[in-house]
Amino acid sequence: MNIQTTDSSTLERVPAALREWLAKPRPMLINGKWVQAKSGKVFDVNDPATEMRLTTVAEGDAADIDAAVRAARAALDGPWGRMSPSVRGRIIHRIGDLILEHLDELAQLESLDNGKPFSVARVADVPLSADMFHYMSGWATKIEGKYIPISNLAAPGQYLSFTRPEPIGVVGQIIPWNFPLLMAAWKLAPALATGCTVVLKVAEETPLSALRLGELLMEAGLPDGVVNIVPGFGDTAGAALAAHPGVDKVAFTGSTEVGRLIVQAASRDLKKVSLELGGKSPNIVLEDADIDATIAGASAGIFFNHGQCCNAGSRLFIQEKIFDKVAAGIAANAEKIKLGVGMDPLTEMGPLVSEVQYGRVTGYLKSGMEEGARALTGGAAAGNRGYFVKPTVLVDTKPAMKVVREEIFGPVLVAIPFKEADDSLIAAANDTIYGLAAGVWTRDGAKAQQIANRLKAGTVWINCYHVFDSALPFGGYKQSGWGREMGQAVLSNYLETKAITSRIH
Ligand code: NAI
Ligand code: MG
Repeated sequence: MNIQTTDSSTLERVPAALREWLAKPRPMLINGKWVQAKSGKVFDVNDPATEMRLTTVAEGDAADIDAAVRAARAALDGPWGRMSPSVRGRIIHRIGDLILEHLDELAQLESLDNGKPFSVARVADVPLSADMFHYMSGWATKIEGKYIPISNLAAPGQYLSFTRPEPIGVVGQIIPWNFPLLMAAWKLAPALATGCTVVLKVAEETPLSALRLGELLMEAGLPDGVVNIVPGFGDTAGAALAAHPGVDKVAFTGSTEVGRLIVQAASRDLKKVSLELGGKSPNIVLEDADIDATIAGASAGIFFNHGQCCNAGSRLFIQEKIFDKVAAGIAANAEKIKLGVGMDPLTEMGPLVSEVQYGRVTGYLKSGMEEGARALTGGAAAGNRGYFVKPTVLVDTKPAMKVVREEIFGPVLVAIPFKEADDSLIAAANDTIYGLAAGVWTRDGAKAQQIANRLKAGTVWINCYHVFDSALPFGGYKQSGWGREMGQAVLSNYLETKAITSRIH
């Protein structure tokens, strides 16, 4: 373990222009204007590697959300609602281009704000965000209805019926901090492609990259009010958005606990809701798997983004015969990972995003040990400043332990042996309230498919993990959510279907 935390601010490592951008309190975007909160309040945004303040950001609350919702309604009824799909598509495509033109800057912001390595944000978060806009731009012109032959028995042949998909309207979107820019892209791009307007409430831990994206949205030619971005806290700005009567639909990514609150808030006027929530995903290794590829893939499955992934492969089921070898291989990988500040080019893993998450993850480590689990490696915090936690592999667990049942959202793997790839393995893998993702590692293609078919998860990866694509639907079974993100599937989150019938005889 090699921990490198700098004594001076990580701000020194970013270009002067970005430092200047951060030197001013960052306003919110409402109706195409950059404004401070109506209350005048701001909140601090910190660097999780140094615990130092990066900047302050306008703190939106119910009054700002209300102004943003009104702006979104006016834009829907105004130029955006009248814009041709082709022009809309071109603007969305231009947003993707602008993200790529600002690749380094956005990756720097993401690294400073979230703690993740710049080198990772530069090849993953930012290009994937751009791709989401590029992919979705094509859908703007391809949202088609259907001619439907009806059998109306009283007057056969007298009617022409077809469906007309329409934007659902004003959408409230609430996103988390683990992939701040990418989560904004996953939400905004399909809403724009379908012709909706948006109020986006960004996570209080990581508002910066979405605010910079807001500047690029306006530069791309988005009319005023189509996207409004309000930073603020969950129980004020977030709750006000989920409950606002002027919002037609709420799209949320975050904890299952808050997902329930969103559903309650939205139930008053029966807003449509889509949810992308937590996970405790099983990753299954059969004894005939390619061991080296599995060790590398399972390590990335849990340690990528410091384990702060809803789809992290956090329960690794390993067939008995190869258990020791695979678990030891992952532990050895964990020990090689260089922890440090995200802007250091040598850093492979940064800190957790916040003091709260640091407390949560170290609390789980403590609870695991108290319940009898053993750390093959890691098992504790690292360094004396910043929210660093050592990549950890836990063994000797029992199915009832909290570390096995609950989402930890940190670099903590639970490794569990199994005897045979039979019904009891499937039952153990599915023994969770979640159903977001799963993995299977084997050289037996037919067996992999059989297992994949029986796993209750929205995504199954075979001999790979964390393979995401703008074209692939992603979302959860069970308490991992409602609806799907990305791909053609996400469009239905943002559309209403109108059936139109005209008399033709
Ligand atoms: P959270 O669910 O509280 O926060 C996510 C978003 O919801 C943030 O924008 C937050 O401001 C907002 N929010 C919070 N309370 C709200 C409310 N009452 N009404 C409306 N919006 C509200 O997640 P948090 O506290 O950051 O993390 C807690 C746990 O949630 C993590 O340890 C992890 O297990 C899980 N999580 C899952 C994510 C995923 O990608 N599915 C992302 C982030 C967290
Ligand atoms: Mg919370």
